[in-house]
Amino acid sequence: MYLQTLHLKHFRNYTQQRVEFTAPKTILVGNNAQGKSNLLEAVELLATLRTHRMGKDRDLIQGGAAIAQINGTVEREIGNSSLALTLRRQGRRTVNINGENLRRQMDFLGIINAVQFSSLDLDLVRGSPDGRRHWLDTLLVQLEPVYAYILQQYNHVLRQRNAYLKACQKADDAGETEELAIWNAQLVTAGTRVIRRRERAIQRLAPIAASWHSDISGSTEDLQINYASYIPLEQNSPETVQKSFLDRLQQRNIAELQRGTTLAGPHRDEVELSINQTPARQYGSQGQQRTLVLALKLAELQLIEEVVGEPPLLLLDDVLAELDLSRQNQLLDTIQDRFQTLITTTHLGAFDAQWLHSSQIVYVHCGEILCK
Ligand SMILES: Nc1ncnc2c1ncn2[C@@H]1O[C@H](COP(=O)(O)OP(=O)(O)OP(=O)(O)O)[C@@H](O)[C@H]1O
Ligand SMILES: [Mg+2]
Repeated sequence: MYLQTLHLKHFRNYTQQRVEFTAPKTILVGNNAQGKSNLLEAVELLATLRTHRMGKDRDLIQGGAAIAQINGTVEREIGNSSLALTLRRQGRRTVNINGENLRRQMDFLGIINAVQFSSLDLDLVRGSPDGRRHWLDTLLVQLEPVYAYILQQYNHVLRQRNAYLKACQKADDAGETEELAIWNAQLVTAGTRVIRRRERAIQRLAPIAASWHSDISGSTEDLQINYASYIPLEQNSPETVQKSFLDRLQQRNIAELQRGTTLAGPHRDEVELSINQTPARQYGSQGQQRTLVLALKLAELQLIEEVVGEPPLLLLDDVLAELDLSRQNQLLDTIQDRFQTLITTTHLGAFDAQWLHSSQIVYVHCGEILCK
């Protein structure tokens, strides 16, 4: 797949800017706070309708404007598409493909696929479980767009169940067993779908990541990735997962009413990363943790390519400078011209001459773009 053009209106610090991508690799150069990451974020939104910067839609809209728009044209083996995402300060987002408004946002997903690799991802190993869940969910949305709907359903039920528990807590009420049973049933049905899909995705990703990891680390380290659910998952059939989920909720019932919140479910699950049987966050140097994140990102690229049948885009935000030369080369060798890549940097000095020669170089200054 190939992103041909991107057009931003009132998005972050861009008032109105069109960019045409004329080479498989584009390097975006500019000083700090000029709009480089913002541009990658716009591509990420077209691909996943999510942003790793988390926040509200109104933060994405240029100060003073009511609406922001991101348009992109993409070339794929199945044909070309033009995508438009409209963000509103007030009201819901709307999505449009080839001039037609879509009723379901889910149908917008999967036209562009992208793997984002930023310096923030280096926190994947050390950061909170929340970041790893967000990462896995973003990958899943691309592997199976219906997952976006499944996750939304779960979050919706979770919010309602939490509101109910909170109300019981305030009223110092033991909760109507019947009403709680209804919420439990809904939570268990929606949550089981989330858990099973996450588990399956990790099972597919883990061997690919382990193989990249052993390549990069020179086979000295063994990476394991495991989806650790709060719900026991011995046999992963929907019925058994549902049953253990329900049992877990019932065990936690008193604690939940006391605390006014849901204590079991995929919102508390974890993606465990370990190296040579030791949790990666405790293991080794920052460099080793970077190797791990690089292996995860390369595995994402490969898995999306396998599932979708076309190589996704790669968005490298400020990350090359963070990797040492041999890891940089590993990454660049893998990319070659196979993955369309957008790279941000504050200076071109870090790039190999051959790379500079074959890349489109774009200057970013105060929300404006100058192509050479
Ligand atoms: N909603 C918004 N409206 C206007 N400006 C915004 C909005 N959101 C962010 N910005 C501005 O965008 C700029 C940051 O852009 P961005 O994160 O893309 O910088 P960058 O070029 O990637 O810089 P760095 O090299 O530091 O990573 C900041 O000046 C910020 O104030
Ligand atoms: Mg940036």
